[in-house]
Amino acid sequence: MIYIPEPFRIKMTEPIRLIPKEDRTKALINAGYNLFNLKAEDVFIDLLTDSGTGSMSHFQWAAMMAGDESYAGAKSFYRFSEVMHEIFGFEFFVPTHQGRAAENILATLLVQPGQFIPSNMHFDTTEGNIRARKANPVNLVNDFAFDPDFLHDFKGNMDLEKLRTFIQTTGAENIPFGTITITNNAGGGQPVSMQNIREVAEIYHEFGILFFIDACRFAENSFFIKHREPGYQNKSIQEIAREIFSYADGAWMSAKKDALVNMGGFLATRDEHLFQRISNELILREGFVSYGGLSGRDLDAIAVGLREGMQEDYLEYRLAQTAYLADKLKDNGIPIMNPAGGHAVYLDAGKLLPHIPPAQFPGQALAVALFQEGAIRGVEIGSVMFAHPDPTSGKMVYPKLELVRLAIPRRVYTQSHLDYVAQISGYVANNRNQYKGYEFTYAPELLRHFTARFKPLL
Ligand code: F0G
Repeated sequence: MIYIPEPFRIKMTEPIRLIPKEDRTKALINAGYNLFNLKAEDVFIDLLTDSGTGSMSHFQWAAMMAGDESYAGAKSFYRFSEVMHEIFGFEFFVPTHQGRAAENILATLLVQPGQFIPSNMHFDTTEGNIRARKANPVNLVNDFAFDPDFLHDFKGNMDLEKLRTFIQTTGAENIPFGTITITNNAGGGQPVSMQNIREVAEIYHEFGILFFIDACRFAENSFFIKHREPGYQNKSIQEIAREIFSYADGAWMSAKKDALVNMGGFLATRDEHLFQRISNELILREGFVSYGGLSGRDLDAIAVGLREGMQEDYLEYRLAQTAYLADKLKDNGIPIMNPAGGHAVYLDAGKLLPHIPPAQFPGQALAVALFQEGAIRGVEIGSVMFAHPDPTSGKMVYPKLELVRLAIPRRVYTQSHLDYVAQISGYVANNRNQYKGYEFTYAPELLRHFTARFKPLL
């Protein structure tokens, strides 16, 4: 495969250092074996998340200098608005400080206890905001999404039959809105096809259910559509994005991903009445409608970043970088979720460490091993993140896959950083039998992966 080099050069650097193995061991003990508790300076290659960890361009930094910090009606807001209209085509929107703030507003305004919100797959904060309202997130992705070796161009697609049957049996009156996540972060960063988005929208609308898109990686998803779905080869990323959002009643986005900024988000709708309610909630908790918890300069960085995030040479390099890491990991004997997704490579910890059962968190064991051996930080996406007691029986429900996500920050690491990650992962794979499971010493009820503490099992 030809590796596409970075379509940029580096003119500002940030030192990173590899601390000795004894210090890594100490850092793990102090962190309660939860990599979220590590000091970032102790991490050499930080693949915890692609969220808010990207590098901004000099155009974005320049735009920030022109930020207008007026409380209301700032010029920055109007520059942000222009880009919002151009790309997404929603009439009404508010900035939010990040994606989960938008999720909280939607859940507060629309969700009642006991209701159900379908998606292909909800990511952790969406799921958390729904559960916090005593409602139920429901994942209706195609079954093949759970087979790491099944190759499909759009493995994030919703199962339309499952969706229709679910709505019929649950009753549309118990579903305040439906959603779809592009790309499907909890399921391997896999894209959703235009056809699937259109058909999902048709089903929701047939039953009178509002359709919101969780849009944080819309540009990567659009690039996959352009290259994999017949009929889109000659369309621009902008045209594809415009079509995606034309099917929805609204969307929310964590701008920390495809808008190439360190902080920000938005919530958009076509419904003026809902927009008024959103505005009131925003003013109460986030800030006035023209800044929503952000500085004016942040809105300028988003406005420039949204356009940059859709540039094709950038997207081509970005997705080739992910595919490069995936290929190298496979060469080094690591089972991964295939094909490579957009923003991350997902290691199949269940398959690599079959001697560790889900209740002892094989994903956590693998994530800790990668830090121990090479100061690489990934994130567990398995039973630590998603196992939960069944609301009626109280029995633990385990997710279908035990994964470790290595998310690639945008415009940050080079090919040699990724080669190092593949080498260390190969070492871990060769020594797989020495790694043991973990148990909680502390875990909160919701979003427990962020603050839980563990101890290794002997
Ligand atoms: N939806 C999806 C699909 C996400 O991946 C995230 C965040 C959010 C919503 C929430 O956005 O962080 O700005 O509040 N995902 C990050 C991650 C944290 O690591 O994948 P946020």
